[in-house]
Amino acid sequence: MGKESKPQAVGQDLRDFAMRDAQGAVRLAVAFIGVSGGLFGHLNRLRGARAEELAAAAGRDAAYVRRWCDAAYAFELLDEADGTFRLTALGRAFMPESPGTLMPFAVQDVLSAHMAERAAGLMTSGERPGEVVLAERATILPWFGPMLEAQFGPVFEKTIMPALKVYEEAALREGLAVDLGCGNGWYLLRLAARFPQLRCLGVDGFEENIRQAQTRAEALGLGGRVQFRTGDIYSFENPEKADIIALNRALHHVWDEKERVFGILKNHLKPKGSAVIWEPHWPLERHILRQPTHRMMAFQNLTEHIQGNHFLMPAEIADAFSQVGLTPAIYSFLEGREAVVTGTLA
Ligand SMILES: C[S@@+](CC[C@H](N)C(=O)[O-])C[C@H]1O[C@@H](n2cnc3c(N)ncnc32)[C@H](O)[C@@H]1O
Repeated sequence: MGKESKPQAVGQDLRDFAMRDAQGAVRLAVAFIGVSGGLFGHLNRLRGARAEELAAAAGRDAAYVRRWCDAAYAFELLDEADGTFRLTALGRAFMPESPGTLMPFAVQDVLSAHMAERAAGLMTSGERPGEVVLAERATILPWFGPMLEAQFGPVFEKTIMPALKVYEEAALREGLAVDLGCGNGWYLLRLAARFPQLRCLGVDGFEENIRQAQTRAEALGLGGRVQFRTGDIYSFENPEKADIIALNRALHHVWDEKERVFGILKNHLKPKGSAVIWEPHWPLERHILRQPTHRMMAFQNLTEHIQGNHFLMPAEIADAFSQVGLTPAIYSFLEGREAVVTGTLA
């Protein structure tokens, strides 16, 4: 038996390291309050305002907004002169409307704190309560869809859509694209905008997602071609077979019954149709997780564990396609962090 090592005094270098991390996390927490309360957007529209004016415009409590302005000023999200607050360039970057917005970092930060607290408590019993844990924070919930859209919408449009032939081929056949676990519908709305010949159907188990998706389809004038409905992936049925069935960050939610899910995919594809599965690429070797590009994935997989899920390796998905007689192909994106695996019916 080795001796326990005696605790050493923590050095200043480690203290400074932790301090920088702590300030970064709190800056994101302050930004989250601004995002959630619509404070960045209102301040931008007002071109600067006193805390009371900002509170009135955003419909928030003036005393809270005054304290938030102080915190946002301290963390350089706001500047101030004569009691009037204005967005700094950094503050403006957190506006959800800004192209390339930093909003997902703020949402992710507060969600991480929530999930960390739940993991710490659940670790005693080993209980895995499922996706309900995500819905426990009323202010975070409405930001899931926008967060995922801001993170992955641009890469889908600029990188994935042009790299995969399946979309164009489906459009040439004036086909049907289905998205199972479609969230707020961002994927199908982009696909429908790019390919006017495609018809689209999105299904999600969460009614709020479907409401947001349908509203947006109608606002974009796509309501005739793009439909969304509430439903369970496990019991998906549709009278018309599909040219594309996409699952984006949804397969790991239903992997525990993968035989059933892959059977559904095969049975709902037209000949030459493809299932297109986009998942985080869980690496084969642990050391990859330490790369700054990958380390968030390791924490997210812990939060998936709470929900009863785990991230997948592309080879596992390809194997599941082969098992049901679909021909697999693996594509890698974003420095190997994201994988798209297609399975095509002969
Ligand atoms: C991580 S989110 C991804 C959402 C969306 N595909 C995106 O990329 O933004 C997973 C989605 O799958 C949905 N989902 C999970 N299990 C489901 C099931 N059995 N039936 C229907 N939807 C499900 C959830 O409601 C959630 O919207």
